[in-house]
Amino acid sequence: MALVSATEMIKKAYEGHYAVPQFNINNLEWIKAVLEGCEKAQSPVMLGVSEGAGKYMCGFKNVVDMVKNVHDTMGITVPVAIHLDHGTFEGAQKCIEVGFTSVMFDGSHYDFEENVEKSKQIIELAHSKGISVECEVGGIGGTEDGVTSNGELADPEECAKIAALGCDFLAAGIGNIHGVYPANWAGLNFDRLDEINKAVDGKPLVLHGGSGIPFDQVHKAITLGVSKVNVNTELQLVFAKATREYIEAGKDQEGKGFDPRKLLKPGCDAVVNQVIEMCKAFGSADKA
Ligand code: 13P
Repeated sequence: MALVSATEMIKKAYEGHYAVPQFNINNLEWIKAVLEGCEKAQSPVMLGVSEGAGKYMCGFKNVVDMVKNVHDTMGITVPVAIHLDHGTFEGAQKCIEVGFTSVMFDGSHYDFEENVEKSKQIIELAHSKGISVECEVGGIGGTEDGVTSNGELADPEECAKIAALGCDFLAAGIGNIHGVYPANWAGLNFDRLDEINKAVDGKPLVLHGGSGIPFDQVHKAITLGVSKVNVNTELQLVFAKATREYIEAGKDQEGKGFDPRKLLKPGCDAVVNQVIEMCKAFGSADKA
């Protein structure tokens, strides 16, 4: 199956009360590991690409080419969308041009009217090419691509206005943050999520910062309209742990040096296992 827009998979998740995972990709190994995990779990998946990861992988066009080739070579059968994560206005336009099947335009840092205007333009452009769009209201806290912001609770009225523009799914801050949650984190704000869910009238919602949120909170969020959960940090942590253990165990081929393919394998295997576990936890396993 070719790469697909995320509209259909998110609609099914919304109706079936589970969440499609978005796993962020950073390099060839990550693409392979995430696809392998989702194929094993029989889960639909969105491959998230931040603007920083796009640059690292030699540009958005190269990311699309890599993903398509790896996807076809591996014979992946589950639905896969390639999605720009926290895109700028220019980044979203570029991704639409080079073959992404889904984009997020994150205008949450603009004045609200400017967010509306720019979101509208990206939605129109993307939909003219059958590409799904995620918009955002209320910044997600934490650090991503070196940018740190405080978590916000999105305004339900603003959410309703952006949802009414026709985006396919909406990210709204409900106390979630990117990265590792501090020990004193207050948890997701379900009262606000409930208000937002009612205000957006059936628009699927997106939970960013999905690493480390206790699964019972994710499950409750799904009952209140969340149909997509983004995960990045969690995969990085399991990858780093397995790689460190491998190096510390000294498996360097009797002092001949580390073959990068062997060196990266334990980390990649750990990512595959984590992906499978999260697909099961989000309820997307066996929903492909
Ligand atoms: P985490 O890194 O906290 O999992 O967040 C990922 C994310 O929300 C990407 O948009």
